Amino acid sequence: MKINIVGTGYVGLISGLCFAEQGHDVLCIDSDAEKIEKLKHGDAPFFEPGLKEMLKETNAKFSVKGDECDVAICCVGTPDDDAKAVFDVAKANKDVKFFIVKSTVPVGTCKKIAAIITGEVISCPEFLRQGSAIEDTKKPHRIIAGVESEKGKDVISRLYEGRKIFFTDLNSSELIKYASNTFLATKISLINEFANYCEQVGANIKDVSKGVGLDPRIGEHFLEAGIGYGGSCLPKDVKALKGDFKILSAVHDVNEAQRLKILEKLGDLKGKKVAVLGLSFKPNTDDLREAPSTFIIEKLKTGGCDIRCYDPQAKHELNVYESPYKTAQGCDVVLFLTEWDEFKNLDLKKLRAQMKGDTLVDARNIFDYLKAREAGFTYLSLGRV
Ligand code: UGA
Repeated sequence: MKINIVGTGYVGLISGLCFAEQGHDVLCIDSDAEKIEKLKHGDAPFFEPGLKEMLKETNAKFSVKGDECDVAICCVGTPDDDAKAVFDVAKANKDVKFFIVKSTVPVGTCKKIAAIITGEVISCPEFLRQGSAIEDTKKPHRIIAGVESEKGKDVISRLYEGRKIFFTDLNSSELIKYASNTFLATKISLINEFANYCEQVGANIKDVSKGVGLDPRIGEHFLEAGIGYGGSCLPKDVKALKGDFKILSAVHDVNEAQRLKILEKLGDLKGKKVAVLGLSFKPNTDDLREAPSTFIIEKLKTGGCDIRCYDPQAKHELNVYESPYKTAQGCDVVLFLTEWDEFKNLDLKKLRAQMKGDTLVDARNIFDYLKAREAGFTYLSLGRV
């Protein structure tokens, strides 16, 4: 099929590369001319495992302008659930046979877009996660598609041949995306509240999560307690619905409060030298959007700390050190905010030896607390006493 993909963010670029790999004729479009030039030269605009390699081998083309196509797939961002960009893309593609909306849009958007498009509008929300975006796109757990005709079903079946597809109506499809992300956020906030409760009653959240997750009705995923959820998706989708859902208002509040917990544990840090290790909102991405680290760094700065940072990928003005050990040199406190694999394998005794002080704050419960204490740290984590 001849496919125009509009928007070269995580969803658009990775979907485009995967469709091209499947043998479709793909044109990836973005209004950012500089980004398009880079993509033409095989330069990845963001860090995502496997992306560089895919860009080197792809047959997908890149342009600032669309071309004639069978299907236009809209993957532009919807900051704060403002779907204006999606409507603009629809207007620019009004004569297309099939207009597929992958961007997360408020319920009812596809029906409104149907009034603009001569062909059929299809809702096909995306569920890939940053950090495993290529794997998720190639082997999705499910494809959700809101369609209005057999022809629409046929287009989706050809695009996602061999994958599990659930067909529904447009509004339900759009809502499934919000329901999925807000369910995940709810799981995280609930487990974080249990982590805080563990501290009160003397229990271990790692074991509680494991035990709870053994029940297949609950499932083992998204039960990692820590500093709360970030990124460009979960916070945005919870905020979009929290006015209508009491439970989501609580989920949001718990998440905001969770960021403060770590600082409450540390107390007054005025004049202290603090190493912040891990800046991205989760491992395997360089994305800092709604990352707890940005909030924590601001708080530490206003609290009068001298801050140094390290992250394997995130681009941040304070991320100038070449290793966690170098970053920790002479510091009073080390603060782990992202659970990168690189941190899991650190030599804690060596880390401790670089430091002036002995406080290790593990906001993602990465380390075995006995090992951390053995290495000479005063070890603080969440939900473990
Ligand atoms: C999320 C969804 O998981 C995807 O399915 C969806 O496609 C995407 O949003 C989107 O709407 O585009 P993503 O934002 O990439 O994906 O990241 P997640 O893996 O969901 O993690 C979100 C946040 O939750 C991270 O800050 C992570 O550290 C945190 N988290 C996750 C926890 O604190 N505990 C957990 O157990 C799991």
